[in-house]
Amino acid sequence: MKLNSLSLEHFRNYSAVNIEKFGNVNILLGNNAQGKTNFLEAIYLLALGKSFRTNHDSELIQSGNDQALIEGTFTRDRQSEIKLGLKIKKHGKVAYLNQLEQPRMSDLVGQINTVIFSPEDLNIVKGSPAYRRHYLDLELASLSPKYLNELRIYQRTLKQKNQYLKMMRDGKSHDQLYLDVLNQKLSKSGGYIAWARNQNIIELEKYAKVIHFRLTQEKEQLQIIYLSEIRSNDLVSPETANKALLANFQKMNEREVRQGITISGIQHDDLSFIINGTNVASFGSQGQKRSVSISLKLSEIEIIKKVRKETPILLLDDIFSELDQNRQTFLIKSFEKELQIFITTTSINDLDCRIIEPPLILKVTDGQVNNRSKDG
Ligand SMILES: Nc1ncnc2c1ncn2[C@@H]1O[C@H](COP(=O)(O)OP(=O)(O)OP(=O)(O)O)[C@@H](O)[C@H]1O
Ligand SMILES: [Mg+2]
Repeated sequence: MKLNSLSLEHFRNYSAVNIEKFGNVNILLGNNAQGKTNFLEAIYLLALGKSFRTNHDSELIQSGNDQALIEGTFTRDRQSEIKLGLKIKKHGKVAYLNQLEQPRMSDLVGQINTVIFSPEDLNIVKGSPAYRRHYLDLELASLSPKYLNELRIYQRTLKQKNQYLKMMRDGKSHDQLYLDVLNQKLSKSGGYIAWARNQNIIELEKYAKVIHFRLTQEKEQLQIIYLSEIRSNDLVSPETANKALLANFQKMNEREVRQGITISGIQHDDLSFIINGTNVASFGSQGQKRSVSISLKLSEIEIIKKVRKETPILLLDDIFSELDQNRQTFLIKSFEKELQIFITTTSINDLDCRIIEPPLILKVTDGQVNNRSKDG
């Protein structure tokens, strides 16, 4: 999968840019706060319809303007060119496929795939459980529109249920039948989500184990564990997970009504990373945590290749400066020739150019992008 051209209008600090040609390896070079990460964010938005930095669409629109526009043309591995567009308004986004407005944002999701590497990836290991759930959800959503759909249903129903539990607690209403209906709806979507998360983690571990072992010169065995209130026996199918979750809701019913909030459910799921038998989040060194996050990201590439039969576009946000030489070399060598890569950096010296030659260098200065030869 390749990005061929990109145009931005009133997006972040870009007033108007139009780039007609990219290479396989593209380096976005520039000082701090010039728009390098914004550029990657625009590509990411075309892939997922969501930013990796913010949930507030209004932040994406250049200050003083009403809407932002992102347009990109892509070639998928075995298909002709496709044009994706995203119009961002203060109160919502509209997706375009080959210039045609799409009824749903989800019609955009998964048309192209990207994998982003950024310094924040460390949070997958050491951040909050919410960060890890978000990571899992983004990854799964990019692979499966059904997952995204079930997640939306779950989140909406959970909100309804919590509102209703509060009313019951405060004695304003008491319709157990209505609560049962909500629980059934929740456990149906929740069962699917739990099953999908479990499948994904099994797959992720399969790849990450091998990659991590190589990355650490065969010193570290990585395990990834799904922490869910649903027992692993019940995670074998969406239906069994559904049943188990419904049983949990029923068991908790009285407490939930008393406290006025949902206690059971997949909104508490988490992941745990183990190296040679020890929990990385609690006992791992900074370098070990970084290695785990790199292994996970490299595994994502493999999973996308397998599931979507496409190579994803890689977005590397300023990560080389934080890696030692061994890990840099490992990373660069793992990227196959056919992958298209966008790398941001403040200094070309941070990069091992011998390996990633010949790059296209794009100089980013205050929301302007200029093509530049390597030595120029
Ligand atoms: N909505 C917006 N309107 C105008 N400017 C914005 C908007 N959002 C962000 N910016 C500007 O974009 C710049 C930051 O861009 P970006 O995060 O891409 O920087 P960067 O080149 O990646 O820098 P660094 O090397 O520090 O990571 C800041 O100057 C910020 O003020
Ligand atoms: Mg940046």
